[in-house]
Amino acid sequence: MQNVTVVDHPFIKHKLTLMRKKQTSTANFRLLLREISMLLAYEALRDVKVKDEEIETPLATIQSPVLDGKKLVLIAILRAGQGILDGMLQIVPNARVGHIGLYRDPKTLDAIEYFYKVPQDLSDRDVIVCDPMLATGNSAVAAIERVKASKPGSLKFVCLLTCPEGLKTMHEAHPDVPVYTASIDERLNDHGYIIPGLGDAGDRLFGTR
Ligand code: URA
Repeated sequence: MQNVTVVDHPFIKHKLTLMRKKQTSTANFRLLLREISMLLAYEALRDVKVKDEEIETPLATIQSPVLDGKKLVLIAILRAGQGILDGMLQIVPNARVGHIGLYRDPKTLDAIEYFYKVPQDLSDRDVIVCDPMLATGNSAVAAIERVKASKPGSLKFVCLLTCPEGLKTMHEAHPDVPVYTASIDERLNDHGYIIPGLGDAGDRLFGTR
């Protein structure tokens, strides 16, 4: 798989197993998604720019690295992307935040946009689009297309789970966008759900079913 990083730390694997279990409560599902997202952020942000700043410790004056450049932008695909966003914001609390509302047409599985609000000037900014499930890939492709029109400095996609079909769609449309995920599952079923997956991420996150 090109341009895909599977972040398969044992802690992530363990927490993902708990998330997959159908008896896991809404509260625990939400907490686990937040925890895994912090770990995914850690990996996805490995290459952020730093610059040296002169500081004084109690014992010496040194040049020490601090984050450089414009503030990062995190964009959640509604509604389940909010779960990943919450975790990533724990790592980068100063990030700017955007939301893209897309729903899947139940018949065609196409992504239909109903909301778009992102920080105004994305040029020179590192942008991360997040959604827990890269399933058909249609929502992710549409969201990234939309964001690309604002010419961000860099663009990445972070998800909890994906499957070969979603990655193929994503890679064909946006081969330049690196994908970070905790797992590449087996396949997509006829209803566009990831198998074995964890069910409907939005419903499990918000307790709507
Ligand atoms: N969206 C979900 O919430 N779950 C899937 O398995 C696929 C898409």
